[in-house]
Amino acid sequence: MEEKEIKILIENAINMLQRSYIPYSNFAVGASLMTKEGKIYNGCNIENSAYTPSNCAERTAFFKAVSEGERDFKAIAIVGGPNRVIKDYCAPCGVCRQVMREFCESSEFKIILAKSVDDYKIFSLEELLPLGFGADDLKK
Ligand code: THU
Repeated sequence: MEEKEIKILIENAINMLQRSYIPYSNFAVGASLMTKEGKIYNGCNIENSAYTPSNCAERTAFFKAVSEGERDFKAIAIVGGPNRVIKDYCAPCGVCRQVMREFCESSEFKIILAKSVDDYKIFSLEELLPLGFGADDLKK
């Protein structure tokens, strides 16, 4: 993946922090997802007064993309922090990792955790979700 693409995804994810709807936790998360063709879908977390209907930023991005017909993904950048301020890397929750597992090749899909456009770490999905359960396991 090109450095330029990585920086664009991080920039988008940072901008999405302003869109997070976070009246309950005050913890904002922004995500920016790139398809294999280079198309980008952004997401933010969206909370709810009943708590469980809340949606993570990563899943917002994935569901926007999948609902538009996308199925092949290259990478996602994720940022987050309290009061919309990035203090540390923000790793995806287990549910979001499982959603990634549904649509992405574990060894190829890149998860970019960033503090800024110049400070980031890249993981494969396989690293963050080893021995994951996927569609093929249903056939065994
Ligand atoms: N959150 C995300 O958006 N993504 C994650 O992977 C971790 C958690 C959100 C959910 C909730 O709105 C807030 O962060 C605090 O948990």
